[in-house]
Amino acid sequence: MRDEYDDTIAGERLAPESLMMGYGYHPEWSEGALKSPIFQTSTFTFASAEQGKRFFEVACGLREAADGETIGLIYSRMNNPDLEILEDRLTLWDGAERALTFSSGMAAIATTLLAHLRAGDVLLHTAPLYGGTDHLVKEILPTLGIDTVEWDPGMSRSAVEERVAASVGRRRPGMILMETPANPTNDLFDIELAAALAADYSTSEHTTLVAVDNTFLGPVWQHPLQHGADLVIYSATKYIGGHSDLIAGACLGSCASIAPIAALRSVLGTMASPWTGWLIMRSLETLDLRMRKQTENAQRIAAFLEHHPKVRLVKYLGLLDSDDPQHEIYKRQCLGPGAMISFEIDGGEAESFRFLNSLELIHLAVSLGSTESLVEHPATMTHAGVDPAEKARLGVGPALVRLSVGVERADDLILDLGQALDAV
Ligand SMILES: Cc1ncc(COP(=O)(O)O)c(C=O)c1O
Repeated sequence: MRDEYDDTIAGERLAPESLMMGYGYHPEWSEGALKSPIFQTSTFTFASAEQGKRFFEVACGLREAADGETIGLIYSRMNNPDLEILEDRLTLWDGAERALTFSSGMAAIATTLLAHLRAGDVLLHTAPLYGGTDHLVKEILPTLGIDTVEWDPGMSRSAVEERVAASVGRRRPGMILMETPANPTNDLFDIELAAALAADYSTSEHTTLVAVDNTFLGPVWQHPLQHGADLVIYSATKYIGGHSDLIAGACLGSCASIAPIAALRSVLGTMASPWTGWLIMRSLETLDLRMRKQTENAQRIAAFLEHHPKVRLVKYLGLLDSDDPQHEIYKRQCLGPGAMISFEIDGGEAESFRFLNSLELIHLAVSLGSTESLVEHPATMTHAGVDPAEKARLGVGPALVRLSVGVERADDLILDLGQALDAV
C-alpha cells in the first residue's frame, strides 16, 4: 500500500495542514473514492502462496526486504491500510521517518518502554507524569526488574546526574522518558539537556534513547525530534483525535528506533483499529485549525484568571515571566503556549469542588485536547493514584484544577468561569 506521494509543488515542500486531506492515499486504489474507505477487515488475501511466504519472511525478520520491495498487507494486527495512511500523515507534523498508532496513549507508552528496556535497566523520567504513566513506571516496571529515577522540575544537569548516581550507583539510564509540558502542572523540561545526558549515558553496546510525551502541546506547538529526542509519543485521544470520541496513541521516530516497537506491537496487538484510524484521519484535517483556536481562547482565559481574586496561581505557558528559567526553555523549545491551563482556587478541595460543580458550559470530565472545554481536579482524579507526598512535592494540591480549553467562543467560557468562581 505504501507508495510515493507528491508532497511538493514546483519543488516546494507543502505544509502538513495542506497535506492532511490526501497524503499517502490514491483514489484509484478504491474506485476513485476521494476519501480512503475504512478497511474493516481482519485479514488480507494473498495473490499466491509464494507471495504469502515472501510477506511473512520480511514480517518475521527471516530476511531483509529487497531494494524496492514493500511488505504487503497480511493481517490487521500487523498492518492495515487505514493505519498505514494515517501513520504516514502523522510523520509530517514531527518530521519523523516512521510513525505507529496504538489502541491508547498508554498502549503507545507501554509498548515503547517494553520494546527498549530490559530487566536490570534504569529509566530516568521527568516528574510529574500523567497518573497512568506514573503507575506504569512506579508500580509495573519495577516488577520487571527495571528501576526508575525521577527528574524534578528545575533540576540542573549536575543535580540530575547526582540523583542518578545516588539512586542507582554506576548503572546508567537505558532510556529517558519526558513529559513536557508535564501533566498537570505545565512544568517544562529541556529536551536538549536530556539528549546531552543520553549521549553521556550511552555506551558502545547501548544507546540511551530520549522519548518525549508531547500530548500537551501536540504536533502543532512542539517538535521534540528537532530538539534531539529519539521518540515522540502522543495520547492521540487528546488533540490529535480532538473530539472526545476515540481512544488512541502514537509513537514516532527514526526507522531504527521504531522497528523494535513495531515488532512488539505486532506481538502484543496494541495497534489501533481501522475505524479509529479512519476517525483520526478525519480529525487531522482540522488539527491545526482546532489547536490555533483553542490556544487563542486559552490566552484570553489565562489573562482573565490571572487577575481574578478567587484564583491564587495560574500555570500557563503563555504567562511565564521572562526571568523565569522555564521561559528560556519555552522560547527555545515550544512554538506556542497551547491550551492547557492549571490554576489554584483560593482555598482547598471544598472550594475547588464548589467551583467545578458550578460550571455550566465547561464539562467536568477527565481527558483534554477536545473541541469542548473540559475541567478536572488532578489530585483526586487523573492523579488520584500518585503517592500523596509526591503530589505535595510537585504542586498537585487540593486547590489545583486543570482546564483544557476548547473551541467555544472565548467570551462564553469566561462568562462560565466567572460565575463558577463567584460561587466559591
Ligand atoms: C500526558 C498524557 N500521556 C498519556 C496519556 C494516556 O493516554 P490514553 O488515555 O490515550 O491512554 C494521557 C491521558 O490523559 C496524558 O494526559
